[in-house]
Amino acid sequence: MSPDDSSAEPGGFRLDVYGPADPVFVKGDGAHLIDEDGRRYLDFTSGIAVTALGHDSPVMSDAIQAALDAGLVHTSNLYRTRPAEELAALLTRESGLHRAFFCNSGGEAVEACIKFARRWARSVGGEDKHEIVALRGSFHGRLFGSLALTDRPAYQDPFRPLMPGARFIDPTDPDVLETLDPQRVAAVIAEPIQGEGGVRPLSSETLRRLRQWTREHESLLILDEVQCGLGRTGRLFAHQEAEIRPDLLALAKPLAGGLPMGAVLLSEAVADTIRRGDHGTTFGGGPLVAGVAHAVVSTIADPAFMAEVREKGAHLLALLEAVQQERPGRIREIRGRGLMWGLELEGESGPVVEKALDEGLLLVGAGPDVVRLLPPLTVTRPELERAVEILTRCLG
Ligand SMILES: Cc1ncc(COP(=O)(O)O)c(C=O)c1O
Repeated sequence: MSPDDSSAEPGGFRLDVYGPADPVFVKGDGAHLIDEDGRRYLDFTSGIAVTALGHDSPVMSDAIQAALDAGLVHTSNLYRTRPAEELAALLTRESGLHRAFFCNSGGEAVEACIKFARRWARSVGGEDKHEIVALRGSFHGRLFGSLALTDRPAYQDPFRPLMPGARFIDPTDPDVLETLDPQRVAAVIAEPIQGEGGVRPLSSETLRRLRQWTREHESLLILDEVQCGLGRTGRLFAHQEAEIRPDLLALAKPLAGGLPMGAVLLSEAVADTIRRGDHGTTFGGGPLVAGVAHAVVSTIADPAFMAEVREKGAHLLALLEAVQQERPGRIREIRGRGLMWGLELEGESGPVVEKALDEGLLLVGAGPDVVRLLPPLTVTRPELERAVEILTRCLG
């Protein structure tokens, strides 16, 4: 295989940590991706919950063009730029939190949450108060801190020793919080809907219990809305359904519509403990991505847009429930909110995902027996109907 022969193996000279599927995509069009042979695929992965406004959003191209016209792509965080400041103002206003830190991915956002939580905890409880408690089934990323909080031995074991001070609890056990030592717990971290863990929504009651325990025991609540946040559930932030507010909120995936960006939103109390030099990033919050993110978040946050997502989500759920009724036993459970759904199957999800690809529908698994549907938030009703039609055929 020569360096320019990228077709000799799937993925060519790229490190094969994913095993990508065969089509080579060359174009996007709304909810569709188009391959080299001109074949159209209905994309119900959205690049794993990223391309919320679809693949050729004018909202994004206008914002990208504006940055290019201004010649302002990157300045570093040594200097101020308007897009980063306007985005921080928008996100803090919408979330009720007080400060924003920008980075480049979900994993980085979680790493920053860990550092900010430890910084705050040390100031209130000294060095012992450093543990971060995560939930069984969680996925928070693949970096060293976020990996330690990801409940997947297969991802963790080859890289031990991991970050110390990570613990896991079972969120379905109502008494488990009482087993924690508040003197040691800096923070509890949770995804309001576990994504990679099989699309498992935490009940509002569980979220409120976590909020209450952390408040009563002088610990922080970190919510990881990297996958379920920014409109995916039909609310701008998934935790708003439980009427709680976290101390730290991690965001990424759809934030800049497909450009790499992450963010952490912090309460005033946590932000007050962070000192200059405590954390940093060269690229985070650059003017191009921040401008695009501002345009994307403004679009999603529009109440009419959110109402549409909820309505389309209800339509999709009704279609899926009809399939479940037609095929008793094949779909064990349908879980999710808005436009984030997981179908727990009787049998493995892999063959269904593969068959759907052959039939022109892109899906992604979430664990061995769950098929995940993550259409763009701009998906149309006919596209939802077509996707469910293909899926039904693929369920066999
Ligand atoms: C809930 C959650 N947190 C963190 C991450 C990590 O994000 P990234 O892959 O951008 O590092 C993911 C990625 O799937 C995620 O779903």
